Amino acid sequence: MKIAVIGLGYVGLTTALGIAELGHKVLGIETDLGKISDLLLSRPHIYEPGLTELLSKHVNNENFLITDDYRELSNGIEFVFICVPTPTSENGSADLTYIDQAIAASKQHLKKESVLIMKSTVPIGTCTKLASNLKNDGLSVVSNPEFLAEGTAVPDFFNPSRIVVGAETEELAKRVLAIFESIVAPNLICDLTSAETIKHASNSFLALKLSFVNEVASLCEETGANAEMVFHGMSFDDRIGDKFLKPGPGWGGSCFPKDTKELAFAAKLYGIEMKTVEAAITSNLAHMNRIKNSFTSQLGAAPKKIAVLGLTFKAGTNDLRESPAIAIAESLADNGYRVVAYDPMVSKFTSDKIEIQDSILQACNDVDGILVLTEWMEFSEIDPNLLDIGNPEKVVVFDTRNILNSSIWSQRFPRFFRIGRSWQNA
Ligand code: UGA
Repeated sequence: MKIAVIGLGYVGLTTALGIAELGHKVLGIETDLGKISDLLLSRPHIYEPGLTELLSKHVNNENFLITDDYRELSNGIEFVFICVPTPTSENGSADLTYIDQAIAASKQHLKKESVLIMKSTVPIGTCTKLASNLKNDGLSVVSNPEFLAEGTAVPDFFNPSRIVVGAETEELAKRVLAIFESIVAPNLICDLTSAETIKHASNSFLALKLSFVNEVASLCEETGANAEMVFHGMSFDDRIGDKFLKPGPGWGGSCFPKDTKELAFAAKLYGIEMKTVEAAITSNLAHMNRIKNSFTSQLGAAPKKIAVLGLTFKAGTNDLRESPAIAIAESLADNGYRVVAYDPMVSKFTSDKIEIQDSILQACNDVDGILVLTEWMEFSEIDPNLLDIGNPEKVVVFDTRNILNSSIWSQRFPRFFRIGRSWQNA
């Protein structure tokens, strides 16, 4: 099949290369010329394990052509995946400018009966409106939400938890499902609005789960319970499951913060208050604040030097969007602390509030406190005895990801704390 993908960001690039790997001819359309030159040299602008290999394979065997010219769509393209960003506007709704631009630029070049497949996460009801607007142009609209997580996007593409296709007719949905024929996964055909809602509700539910997990971890810090044990105990119940039960400094990234706000906003338009989703958002902000306050209450007032380990919103990505680590680090700097940071994926940072260092050893050199905010494996491999620190007795270490070896760390640093464990007897 001849398929186009508009927007070669996190979702678009993975989708385009995944589809090429399935054996289709893919045309990638991207308006950022700098990005195109890098892609043509097999250099993706994002860090995603497995993506560079797929890119060099398909750019070189010509299964994947990249252009900024929408006229290429007239070259026999039957399906167009729309993968452009939908950022949050001031009022919490999604800004659909890029979607509108992509559709306006494509429709004049597409042959009749082509199908626009919405991968971008759009407000509930968007695809139905688009489908009705594009009927006269002979184009159909299908919703095919993505469930790729950053850091595992490539394996997620080939082994998805499910493939959801929302369409106005079953025949149309089946045409789209045929693209993914060789992937073994549960397929779900539904209407457009249900498909859009599945995406929003899934992300909001996961965010809600994490807000709850973080609150339970905070409770354990006060009661003396062992949060890890508590979540393990809960996980035996199939109705709860064993995933997304890891407390952290708060949830972030380009999806959860945006999608929760969007769902809460959209629900109001239909007269429904999604109090649980709103509470999850508020709880997440309060949690980041609590992390900062717990740490500084042990550390004492500024000025003091703090090493922040990890800036990305989670491990396995170089994405800094809506990262709780950055929110917490900047807030510490605002409170007068000197913040030096190390992250294996971050070599420069635009904010002058955080000084970036090239290594863990450099970042931790003679600090008063160490705050671990991203669960990079290399942090778990650090030997704390190698850190050059004047008086380890005084240094406060707080591991918000439970990634450090507590027995080794607490031996070197008596004031070692970790999330979900009592601050009295860590
Ligand atoms: C999320 C969803 O997991 C994907 O299914 C979805 O396709 C994607 O959004 C999207 O809408 O595009 P992603 O944002 O890449 O994926 O990252 P997650 O792995 O879901 O993590 C989100 C946040 O939750 C991170 O800040 C992470 O550190 C945090 N988290 C996750 C925890 O604190 N604990 C956990 O147990 C899991």
